[in-house]
Amino acid sequence: MKSWGLLLVAALALSGSYAVDRNNFKTCDQSGFCKRLRGFKPEKSEYTLNLDTVLVHGNVLSAEVDTVDTSTQERKVLWHYAMRLSALVDGTFRVEIDEVDPLYPRYRTQLALNGEPKADGLKLLSNENGKLTLANSQGHKVVITAAPLKIEFLNQAGDVAVVLNDNAQLVVEPLRVKKERIDDEDGNAVEVEEEGTWGESFKSHHDSKPRGNEAVSLDFSFPDADNVYGIPEHTDKFALKTTTSGEPYRLFNLDVFEYELDSRMAIYGAVPVLYSHGPKHSAGVFWHNSAETWVDIVNYADSTVVSSLVNLVTGGQKRRVDARFISESGIVDVFVFLGEKPSDVFRQYVMLTGPAPLPPKFSLAYHQCRWNYVDEADVRSVDNGFDEHDIPADVIWLDIEYTDRKKYFTWDPLKFPNPAEMIANLTSKGRKLVTIIDPHVKREAGYFLHEDATELGYYVKDKDGKDYEGWCWPGSSSYLDFFNPVVSKYYSERYSFENFPGTSKDVHIWNDMNEPSVFNGPEITMPKDCRHYKPPQDGNDGLAAYWEHRHVHNEYGLWNIRATHEGMLQRADSKYRPFILTRSAFAGTQRYAAVWTGDNMAEWGFLAVSVPMCLSLASAGISFCGSDVGGFFKYPEAELMTRWYQAGAFQPFFRAHSHIETKRREPWLYDPATTALLRDANRRRYALIDFWYTLFYEHSVDGLPVMRALFQEYPKEEDTYTIDDQYLLGNKLLVRPVVEPGVSNVKVYLPGSATRTLWYDVDTYHAYPANGYLTFDVTLSKVPVFQRGGGIVLRKERVRRSSALMADDPYTIVVALDANGTSEGSLYIDDGETYEYRNNKYIYAKLAYEPSAMTYSFVNDKASYPTRSWVERIVIAGIKNPPKTAKLVQGEKQTSLQMTLHKGNDVLVVRKPAASMAQPWKIIFSY
Ligand code: GLC
Repeated sequence: MKSWGLLLVAALALSGSYAVDRNNFKTCDQSGFCKRLRGFKPEKSEYTLNLDTVLVHGNVLSAEVDTVDTSTQERKVLWHYAMRLSALVDGTFRVEIDEVDPLYPRYRTQLALNGEPKADGLKLLSNENGKLTLANSQGHKVVITAAPLKIEFLNQAGDVAVVLNDNAQLVVEPLRVKKERIDDEDGNAVEVEEEGTWGESFKSHHDSKPRGNEAVSLDFSFPDADNVYGIPEHTDKFALKTTTSGEPYRLFNLDVFEYELDSRMAIYGAVPVLYSHGPKHSAGVFWHNSAETWVDIVNYADSTVVSSLVNLVTGGQKRRVDARFISESGIVDVFVFLGEKPSDVFRQYVMLTGPAPLPPKFSLAYHQCRWNYVDEADVRSVDNGFDEHDIPADVIWLDIEYTDRKKYFTWDPLKFPNPAEMIANLTSKGRKLVTIIDPHVKREAGYFLHEDATELGYYVKDKDGKDYEGWCWPGSSSYLDFFNPVVSKYYSERYSFENFPGTSKDVHIWNDMNEPSVFNGPEITMPKDCRHYKPPQDGNDGLAAYWEHRHVHNEYGLWNIRATHEGMLQRADSKYRPFILTRSAFAGTQRYAAVWTGDNMAEWGFLAVSVPMCLSLASAGISFCGSDVGGFFKYPEAELMTRWYQAGAFQPFFRAHSHIETKRREPWLYDPATTALLRDANRRRYALIDFWYTLFYEHSVDGLPVMRALFQEYPKEEDTYTIDDQYLLGNKLLVRPVVEPGVSNVKVYLPGSATRTLWYDVDTYHAYPANGYLTFDVTLSKVPVFQRGGGIVLRKERVRRSSALMADDPYTIVVALDANGTSEGSLYIDDGETYEYRNNKYIYAKLAYEPSAMTYSFVNDKASYPTRSWVERIVIAGIKNPPKTAKLVQGEKQTSLQMTLHKGNDVLVVRKPAASMAQPWKIIFSY
């Protein structure tokens, strides 16, 4: 039987049109709390801090905040709230506002943070005239105005960087008991509750809302900001737009079939972190909430923002951006980052939610996927195809059809009778297999997973407490409740080699559809009144006995991948690093998985949007990002396919994928000239595999984006603030993928100082000074990639069938000189797959070039790795005064080296230094 998705695609193929069905997804007006709160614009905030209750203890200020009825003379307190302001290390603050005594506990997001944030000191400096002034130990200040409540955060430079509740949009709707029905004289019910409070409908779906309204909201102002960024995942620009005349940005993990471009609609991922940036400073806020969330943005520099408002709010100052977060439930829990540089705010966020761990090396190479490789013979022939056409590849992927009729952890007995043998064939070439495991469970008698989950009560429950049933790929399905630790443990154990027969350490996992996707659910997901496990505490009966799906929705997928990650660790005694790909994403996802941008289309716009989408995810801690190369739906013609491979080769996650109904498109199925271009793109990726691996090692330590916006490195350069069609890899390569059809040149912006910064075309070593925009000629084989003068990049030129087979290969070291004739770089080497690096079995080396010498030295001299790699050649680009002699010194050994000068005498090649990379070395130049 064909699944719903397939039928839809078939229908679309007939009608010829592809477009999202917007009717399936709510607008703000159709989402009760969004409509209610977006319309709430009081002149003055009702929230007041009660100065008599202020207590500063350790790193925390606590105080009661009350809502006060200001319509009457006497000050009538409506509701009591508890506020906590904590100072945390690294210039971060946290503000929490919850009810003092809620009717039921309000949900606090559980998995986003990487453990308890570390405390800094907090001192109350003054308490006068209704204002409290506090400081942390690093000189960041907080000024709290009591009535109405307003909180200003000042950075070390003394500038106000973030203000909370300046626009009076703090709201915490108190949990209430439903009012009894009141009848009028004629016995008719009188409206006592606002419509929608105790239930609302969307299309044919009714949400029972048993706890009534419980939304929260807060506004943030960023003085001096030109732009704000973040809150992935959307298909909009990286620099976010003013939303006043349209929909807010929505954060709600959804499986949006045929999602559209330039949209603020919610799609698969939702990371509620927002950064501001301007020439003065950067700042940021992390809205720690896993419920459905909408974000409004007002940029005072936008022509759409009426000037009267600009004058009113900013006194004519146009540099300011305001944002407002509105969530359906939870508490107000917000982290404030005071920067001051972009890299500071990115780091502050990542240190809270955890940096991504070092991925296994193969996962940074090329992945070949399709829905579906149909049987073992197909897998073998695709695998051989790469060898026959001399195209490197590391991974073959199996989509849902490999299973026994969509029962995960099983194999189709006819098409995949000998998975172990098939896998051994791949691993003999250093290749791996990734199989898909979705979180929905087929409700079929006799399927062990379904029978266990039913018997043991492991499924998410519906509003009445029965196992929730929805529709997904297998047909009728239920969903494991990963929030229950017992269920997560059970699920993790399914990944053992014993329980998932045929698999080995070389089989990695793809967790898809984990928003979760429910084809017949409201907005193609799980009803919000479904019930999840809640640990037995805080009175465990009635509505306090469980969490509703509404509270946890955006972190469902995170619980899924966390359990998978745990299972993959356990299956091999925590020896090997797992690779997981997830579609849904939330804050913290990077600790477990890579993310791809879901079901895109073979169209130029989707190729182009892969850059801002991945930049935005990277700013939110998720650097390991890519799009379906070639486009998932539809068929990419040769030029689009070529450009997509070229772009993908320079994005972190590089995987070709396609829909089951599309024409096959393995690289050799194109004309020979195109195949050659695709081969070339893959070979470029493999030549830089150690560069990528080093970037990801450094990322695992500092958490900074691997794929980074230009303004991160050039924060004062205003031209860079809205550039999102080019990016940097680390701080060394600048990439401007060609994402337009039929072009013979593209505009490239080269940042830095016009007199001091040079950018070298990586193909020609021609150096361009950084003086802004440049029109750069391209052919179909040309990808504009530049190496920054002052940066060293290591390459492996002997490309082989897989990255594993290249482990011992020699390096070509490309040294691009800066204006002073110096350059530096780094290199990370280990076994590529285990955790032995944690036992000092690795090399992390710095390379430094100066006119007098080049050195390769270990950062940690207790660490070592017996690599057999060596230096095949050193290319020094931009040399003005070439040395006469070069001598290699390594240990006791000294060798004279040969050099040749090329390209108009500005590229010097040191030939075959043959230095081992297992030990430090030095090359001494004389003139
Ligand atoms: C979803 C995924 C897609 C996959 C398909 C079948 O649409 O996004 O990548 O091929 O499901 O599993």
